[in-house]
Amino acid sequence: MHEPLLVVRNLTKAYGGILPANNLNFEIHHDEIVGIIGPNGAGKSTLMRLIAGVLRPTSGQILFKGTDITGQEISKTVNMGLASTFQIVRPFRHLPVIANVMVGCLSPRSKRKGEWVKTVEQRAANALEFCGIADLAKESASVLSHGDLKRLELARAIATEPDLLLLDEPLGGLNPTEARLVARSLKRLHKGGRFGRLHSEGPAMMIVEHKLSELMSIVDRVIVINLGKIIAIGSPEEIVKNDAVIEAYLGRDNSLAA
Ligand SMILES: Nc1ncnc2c1ncn2[C@@H]1O[C@H](COP(=O)(O)OP(=O)(O)OP(=O)(O)O)[C@@H](O)[C@H]1O
Ligand SMILES: [Mg+2]
Repeated sequence: MHEPLLVVRNLTKAYGGILPANNLNFEIHHDEIVGIIGPNGAGKSTLMRLIAGVLRPTSGQILFKGTDITGQEISKTVNMGLASTFQIVRPFRHLPVIANVMVGCLSPRSKRKGEWVKTVEQRAANALEFCGIADLAKESASVLSHGDLKRLELARAIATEPDLLLLDEPLGGLNPTEARLVARSLKRLHKGGRFGRLHSEGPAMMIVEHKLSELMSIVDRVIVINLGKIIAIGSPEEIVKNDAVIEAYLGRDNSLAA
């Protein structure tokens, strides 16, 4: 078996007495889409932000492609092939949508030597097309709806041609039809090809999502977090009938069937 793409070891984040990440241990492999679920406040975004390098852990280690990236600068991590989108979107609001994505195309990782601006623009346009917002390319990012901003972030992240994509609620703000469409595109991207450089294989993904039916239809494995701890890891089929998981959701008045 291949060495894991990502290894998370004894990862802990403390804010005073609060432990949104409490000694987390798991691995992500190249060929996986892994869903991260759990009730509100469980620590899902904290975990994603720790891996992305936005937050520094209190203790523990994150290895990406065998290299320790704990506390490493984000630009360096992106350049190694790890791209993220966040729960709270942060576009360059005064730039056109297409320019927001071109920034992704120009990361040292995906920039081609001697590439013409027109070509970069075409690649950014492909990413927008992929995310279903090609018609918004010339609009200022400041006029976009929340759902469209989520898709813009996704376009920007995939334009860096990552090997691991971390997505925090990528379907947030989308209506059911749009959510199904984006979920299906993510699966297609993962299966390889159909975008940009034509990865021989698509990126591995970690996806935090409350829209469980869409999520469960595309993931290979699910990690369930509650109160900063992993309470279950398994296939979608195993997870929906896991007692600890059902209890965590019911206990918070959250429905697994949502
Ligand atoms: N800067 C901070 N200082 C103190 N506590 C924090 C801080 N950031 C997050 N927390 C706490 O950590 C816990 C986990 O928050 P986190 O945002 O990771 O949850 P989540 O699982 O993403 O929730 P949601 O599903 O609502 O997005 C929460 O109890 C939150 O209040
Ligand atoms: Mg969150």
